[in-house]
Amino acid sequence: MLLGRVGRLGLSVASRRCASGSVGAASSFRFFSSSSRDPVPGYDWDALGFGLNTKDTAMVILTSDEETGEWSEAKVSPYAPMMIEPSAVALNYGQALFEGVKAYRTADDRLVVFRPQENCRRMREGGARYALADFDEEMFLGALDTFVDANAHWVPPAGKGALYIRPLLMGLTGQLGVAPSAETTLCIYGSPVGDYFKNTGAGGGVTPIKLLISEEHDRAAPKGVGSTKAAGNYAPCFTVQKAAREKGYNDVLYLDAATNTYVEEVAASNFFCVRDGVVHTPALGTILGGITRLSAIELLREDYGVQVVEGKVSIEDVFSDSTSEAFCVGTAAVVSPIGTIDRSSGSKQWSYDESGYGPVGKWLFDALTGIQKGTSEDSRGWLYEVK
Ligand SMILES: Cc1ncc(COP(=O)(O)O)c(C=O)c1O
Repeated sequence: MLLGRVGRLGLSVASRRCASGSVGAASSFRFFSSSSRDPVPGYDWDALGFGLNTKDTAMVILTSDEETGEWSEAKVSPYAPMMIEPSAVALNYGQALFEGVKAYRTADDRLVVFRPQENCRRMREGGARYALADFDEEMFLGALDTFVDANAHWVPPAGKGALYIRPLLMGLTGQLGVAPSAETTLCIYGSPVGDYFKNTGAGGGVTPIKLLISEEHDRAAPKGVGSTKAAGNYAPCFTVQKAAREKGYNDVLYLDAATNTYVEEVAASNFFCVRDGVVHTPALGTILGGITRLSAIELLREDYGVQVVEGKVSIEDVFSDSTSEAFCVGTAAVVSPIGTIDRSSGSKQWSYDESGYGPVGKWLFDALTGIQKGTSEDSRGWLYEVK
């Protein structure tokens, strides 16, 4: 573990309590603070997988006042356990949302975050559904700025991954009644990460992923909360994912709960396929409206010049010979080519060139990562720079 020391933030590793007094950091955690924005020296940046690769980071916490709803200033402290009551509403009744955002170091050493305004919008929409306190974009981006600034040395060198940023919005008031928390907490923590799917193929290209259709369990109900990034949407996928992984699949593909006929999404990424030269992706509704999905649709339509249809994507069509390519997209998954989709009644397979991608997926991967890494022009202003 890297030793914590007082850095440019002037923080000590001592325990801190927030304005409300309900959340604080335990004292035993230390974080590596640096006066430089350079990547932590000596860290094995080539070995990064997708996970909480270090706890030597700083986290940021803000709380809304119980009475006024006013938000506190962003408080920076070492990543550490939080002291919350067993009766916290988030623990008992699932009043909790999260986001996933990535910060990159560009080749010219800028620290940029990809479309955080969209994460803010999605979290606010989820917060309205979950009766959590609202906030504005200025507050969210300010907290994100503070987080990235405090962890600048954990943003990997250009091309070696990203700093994954995890904002959590939670109702942490302790109470027994089935009612919303009086106070909302926004906590931002994160970790440097590498690839979500460990799928580098022998020839340097990627190995397309294998998906298993979930036939026993649905992810989201019509008119339910599948379109929110609610913490409670993910635990029910664990046993399904575990069973699929034990059989050699990378992940699970969900169909619609009402008819089990239409593709919805992969457990944490959105689905695309190419049929007769047209790109198809499931319409919004029960799926999570991914920010990568949104960006992919715009890039494919406007820059690649292909028709993209957002609608019902029947699994029969996906399995038909006219579907030439499939891939999934997400902040973590980026653009991952799909090589196999299995269900109990059969299997669909695609083979691609040595890159591991079909032509549309490859173009999209290059276009998207080019913008994110600062090697292509950001003509749409999608990069938010932390100065
Ligand atoms: C269920 C689900 N679908 C899709 C996505 C992709 O969304 P985004 O592109 O915003 O990361 C995620 C992201 O985590 C997800 O959890």
